[in-house]
Amino acid sequence: MNSLNGLKIVITAGPTVERIDPVRYITNDSSGKMGYALAEAAQKAGGRVLLISGPVSLPTPEGVIRIDVLSADDMLAACQANMPCDIFISAAAVADFKVLSPSTFKIKKKYDDDSNIVLYLSKNPDIIKTISESKKSNFTVGFAAETHDIKENAKSKIIRKKINLILANDVSDESIGFNNDENELLAIDDQFNEYPFPRATKSKLAAEVIDLIVKLH
Ligand code: C5P
Repeated sequence: MNSLNGLKIVITAGPTVERIDPVRYITNDSSGKMGYALAEAAQKAGGRVLLISGPVSLPTPEGVIRIDVLSADDMLAACQANMPCDIFISAAAVADFKVLSPSTFKIKKKYDDDSNIVLYLSKNPDIIKTISESKKSNFTVGFAAETHDIKENAKSKIIRKKINLILANDVSDESIGFNNDENELLAIDDQFNEYPFPRATKSKLAAEVIDLIVKLH
């Protein structure tokens, strides 16, 4: 039987949270379900799994070590502090931008002034690209959530982010993917071989994806 045989697997999951001020933030709808399902499947396949998670309301899978983080910067720091690893799976929905200068005080609205306020955003680090380029993970797996040109976008991400395997999904179909229990994936490796995974529960898909990773890594 295929097995991860004690290999160290680091998985990111969930959203990141980017502070605006002490009571407000920017985040997204990621439930973390796919990343947590992958963590559970990797642990069952014999991996030593470390899950680096943004805030989600999911229990930690048995036997998995979990580190909670908020921002993309914190997530990257936690990943780097836990390298090297054998397999890095980036399932987190990392916010692309963070607030340039978060306020340490609650931003007050001015009752006598209708003018807009401007929030300057700066780019977050690309976590998977940083880890791939550091060469501290032997095999990196990323996701590509796309609404159109799925294959082309996924392939360009493989090259740009130096990923070994990408799991592409169509987020224009609201019944799968983000915040749902089911998903449908097209895996593409760095030789552009394609492995379709038809619609199934995230836990079934996760087990199949881990089997593929065992074969390819
Ligand atoms: O560029 P895009 O966000 O579509 O790429 C998706 C992949 O890159 C996912 O695997 C996601 O976890 C990862 N990512 C990342 N750091 C970012 C943005 C995305 O690791 N800042």
